Amino acid sequence: MSGAIPLVDLKTNYRSIEAEVRAAVDRVLDSGQYILGPEVETFEREYAAFAGVKHCVGVANGTDAVELVVRAAGLTRHDEVLVPANSFVASALAVERAGAKVKLVDCTWDSLLDVEACEARHGPDVRAVMPVHLFGQCADLEAVAAYAHKHGLVVLEDAAQSQGASRNGRGAGSVGLGAGTSFYPGKNLGAYGDAGAVLTQDDAFARKVRALRNYGSEVKYSHPETGFNSRLDPVQAAVLRVKLKHLGRWNEQRRAAARRYDEFLAGLPEVTRPQTLEGNVHVFHLYVVRLPEAKRDRVLAAMQADGLGVAVHYPAPIHLQGAFKHLGFRAGDFPVAEALARQMVSLPLYPELTVEQQARVVASLKKALTAG
Ligand SMILES: Cc1ncc(COP(=O)(O)O)c(C=O)c1O
Repeated sequence: MSGAIPLVDLKTNYRSIEAEVRAAVDRVLDSGQYILGPEVETFEREYAAFAGVKHCVGVANGTDAVELVVRAAGLTRHDEVLVPANSFVASALAVERAGAKVKLVDCTWDSLLDVEACEARHGPDVRAVMPVHLFGQCADLEAVAAYAHKHGLVVLEDAAQSQGASRNGRGAGSVGLGAGTSFYPGKNLGAYGDAGAVLTQDDAFARKVRALRNYGSEVKYSHPETGFNSRLDPVQAAVLRVKLKHLGRWNEQRRAAARRYDEFLAGLPEVTRPQTLEGNVHVFHLYVVRLPEAKRDRVLAAMQADGLGVAVHYPAPIHLQGAFKHLGFRAGDFPVAEALARQMVSLPLYPELTVEQQARVVASLKKALTAG
């Protein structure tokens, strides 16, 4: 079949805003302000308003953002943070890098934090719980809040895949003490390089993150604690300001494309479509279906051979990654996350995806499912 369809099409998206982006980048280059300054501050204000939070602090990437959230929450090496086993590895890496302990838990069939699993794994050292709003929809934040309240825990959100998502009217990243988000290029709001942000409603928390991202300093050459160099680049801030203006429409286009996939796939009993939790506004960072385990790898390979950018998010859960061997888990310990890793397929999804392209993806999927 002709005409490859990528998982995400960043170039087509760039072409649609090229003139605006070039003008914004020129503005920064002309300004002579290349670290922090008005471009970053303006983006922080605009993004805070968009996300429904009081403070947005721009940082260098999403991993740093989550790490800064854990650091600013004051967690130390005795403190455990509950993290779902099916997430991008950075959710857990960031907790460890911040000096706290990762306590992995299984997830729901929607790839979200399983609060019952948190209760089952609860222990005296658990201090925080980190829902990850994976694939573009919020975890069950009411259940998370009730569990956290019962045990006196802080809620820290990983909102890297959920820009514009909300749950019962509250934006992703606006519910916990702090949230980290990522503007990695492939995210719903992506920069043209690495970028991220910390979100919070809490003045003191925001102030702490602002100091930590800037060598632990509020006053030049005074460093009361060990900080980072993790500042949002003004060039990226300018790009993000342009893209933020279009994000509402792009998220709507993603939802429309997801609805079309839902319709196209409705007659295929072997395909389990993604479910949107009641109360959620989903932004479909990814459209992830589940297939029978015996067929998944063959279907994936056939679709790739057809020129389709299908992928698995994520092929190995965090507890089976070498980086987390020291936690002592084995295959079988988190059965839902492990089954998901064997069943999931992410189909191409981006705002500019056409109906014809979607029909081609679905035709290829059907053909691969029925072959052999
Ligand atoms: C759920 C999640 N958390 C954290 C990150 C880390 O973000 P970054 O790649 O910007 O460091 C990502 C994305 O890459 C992510 O998807």
